[in-house]
Amino acid sequence: MNAISLKRIKKDYVSLRRGKVEALKDICLEVDPGSFFVLLGPSGCGKSTLLNIIAGIENPTAGDVMIGDEVVASASQRKYLTPRRRDVAMVFQSYALYPHMTVYDNIAFPLKIAKTERGEIGRRVRQVSETLEIADLLEAKPAELSGGQRQRVALGRAIVRKPSVLLLDEPLSNLDALLRISMRAELKKIQRRLELTTVFVTHDQLEALSLGDRVAVLKDGLVQQVGTPHDIFSDPANLFVAQFIGTPPMNVLDGRMLEKARKRLRNTATRQDPGRILLGIRPAHIRVSTDGEGLFDGNISLISSLGNENLLYIDVMGQQILASVTDAGRFKEGQTVQIDFDETTLFSFRKEDGGRIR
Ligand SMILES: Nc1ncnc2c1ncn2[C@@H]1O[C@H](COP(=O)(O)OP(=O)(O)OP(=O)(O)O)[C@@H](O)[C@H]1O
Ligand SMILES: [Mg+2]
Repeated sequence: MNAISLKRIKKDYVSLRRGKVEALKDICLEVDPGSFFVLLGPSGCGKSTLLNIIAGIENPTAGDVMIGDEVVASASQRKYLTPRRRDVAMVFQSYALYPHMTVYDNIAFPLKIAKTERGEIGRRVRQVSETLEIADLLEAKPAELSGGQRQRVALGRAIVRKPSVLLLDEPLSNLDALLRISMRAELKKIQRRLELTTVFVTHDQLEALSLGDRVAVLKDGLVQQVGTPHDIFSDPANLFVAQFIGTPPMNVLDGRMLEKARKRLRNTATRQDPGRILLGIRPAHIRVSTDGEGLFDGNISLISSLGNENLLYIDVMGQQILASVTDAGRFKEGQTVQIDFDETTLFSFRKEDGGRIR
């Protein structure tokens, strides 16, 4: 049994100004029990809408939502359970805490609403605050806390009821870079320990890859690919996924480079009509040399350090190619270099619709 099943979910918004907006077009997804599932995509692709539909804050225009073996929303049956009856907890991007309440009362709040017995409230709040390492902050008010601590209080408030599903909408986006990374690890550890089925929304691909057991990539209200982080990075279903996942982004060779590269290629996919294919290659797979050997001559227009790797921006036949190298000491800006690559590292796509050619 899946923890969550989404069956042919559609969502239209109708507004006076924009007319009909098809926020979600035909979404089918399945989330395994106890897994960490990530919805990843650019702004406006429908991530929050989908999470809100799982939570019961929005109703789908078409399709069914199941949590466990129960249908919690069905457009055809006009059946929509309230958020509370779904046994889900959600943390919003703004994670608004009650400013006048202590940390203890913030975390206890959902239990009080559910009329839980006082002793039990105390036990649960203490247990959750120990898990989240905020047990020493229970008497503090939100204003006295750091961003990461507030984040953990919001998470505590969400998990204290022991929901069967935890929904998180970009919960780390308000934190500074270092705190984000440590909170990511914390969140994943807590999720693992509690074996809590979690759906996490983000537009940050690194966050998605580092957190997700499985990741669904969305664009314009449609799922582009679902898979493990390794799947979507190493075996992208289409050009959009290939370019959205991975930093620095994949290079796509334009017509003239393609024409020249093709002469050497043997693979049937890459030998197709150059007017109809696109070839992609990741910056780490570009070989840069200064020995005069190589498929293309290029000129380094910029060297940019990323700490343990360096990015070379290379002008090749009027196109900018990104190459990532570990030892940039060999190169200098303005230098003429040769670039090359192995055919096996190329990805081919249909020009027409970006679909992968295998
Ligand atoms: N209440 C609404 N009325 C009309 N259109 C809406 C409404 N809510 C969302 N939309 C539209 O639906 C689409 C999807 O919005 P959604 O908020 O789900 O995107 P998102 O992927 O969460 O984006 P972001 O990363 O910016 O939060 C967008 O085009 C948005 O403008
Ligand atoms: Mg959103």
